[in-house]
Amino acid sequence: MARKKIALIGAGMIGGTLAHLAAMKELGDIVLFDIAEGTPQGKALDIAQSGPVEGFDADLKGANSYEDIAGADVCIVTAGVPRKPGMSRDDLLGINLKVMKAVGEGIKAHAPNAFVICITNPLDAMVWALREYSGLPHNMVVGMAGVLDSARFRHFLADEFKVSVEDVTAFVLGGHGDTMVPVVEYSTVAGIPLPDLIKMGWSTSERIEKIVQRTRSGGGEIVGLLKTGSAFYAPATSGIAMAESYLKDKKRLLPCAAHLTGQYGVDDLYVGVPVVIGAGGVERVVEIDLKDEAKANFQTSVDAVKELLVACKGIDSSLN
Ligand code: APR
Repeated sequence: MARKKIALIGAGMIGGTLAHLAAMKELGDIVLFDIAEGTPQGKALDIAQSGPVEGFDADLKGANSYEDIAGADVCIVTAGVPRKPGMSRDDLLGINLKVMKAVGEGIKAHAPNAFVICITNPLDAMVWALREYSGLPHNMVVGMAGVLDSARFRHFLADEFKVSVEDVTAFVLGGHGDTMVPVVEYSTVAGIPLPDLIKMGWSTSERIEKIVQRTRSGGGEIVGLLKTGSAFYAPATSGIAMAESYLKDKKRLLPCAAHLTGQYGVDDLYVGVPVVIGAGGVERVVEIDLKDEAKANFQTSVDAVKELLVACKGIDSSLN
């Protein structure tokens, strides 16, 4: 059986890490695509040369032409520019929207059967636009945010409770931004919900609230430390978990930015919700019952995503 093909659109910090992880996990052959000449080729060669030491078999190729992504089973998109000092949100939207147009058209022409995972920010707007430009079925285009935000929440919780990260489950829903919604009542240690753990004296509401706030600004905390870029290890691992669930038909239940058609009272918007990812792409959107506070926070998050889409449509009228 031929190996699967994974196209990484954008060979920057996250793109390179995605390639390394995909190769180490032998998920398939890998094409790193970028507009920068030399970068994808250099990273592909460097990672390929780690193969004999690590013992993985995967072909790695760098490319500057969309023709090289032909027939990809999975495309993971990190192409774009980060927000720089002095740049407004609309400036960033305008630039990355153009990138999504080029990427969407490239995927439509060369890899129309792929499962597409978008990581480029501002995530909820970019994944929506990428789907519009590519014309792929909605269940085959998804955004990576919730897996990362939940992983940050889980890390902080495991640290608070002094237990293994493996036994901490957590959900972060809503948009990928300041308004994201870490759902406390559905977060557990080996099935014991956080509110029960607070009653058992493992922590206090105040300390959990601080962890919730730290999760919300988790990306910014890392930008502040790195100074020259944003997080890339955990974002890449999160993208790979989603790709793996699709490629191996694992049917994992993961929080992802998925297209909603009435679920949670939201229509034609990408927002972070729990979904099942399997060989059929997004096979199911899972509607959980949100308590009043989480529901109100989710609505605030949805409104923020809506505002971004209005801005996108203002920049490119073909999206109306
Ligand atoms: N087509 C292909 N690649 C592009 C394009 C384009 N039109 N425009 C820019 N790129 C490439 C850049 O050349 C660069 O190599 O996208 C890559 C982005 O890499 P980094 O700047 O290192 O960014 P990274 O840290 O990987 O993050 C990528 O994910 O989490 C988000 O906010 C983050 O939007 C950012 C994205």
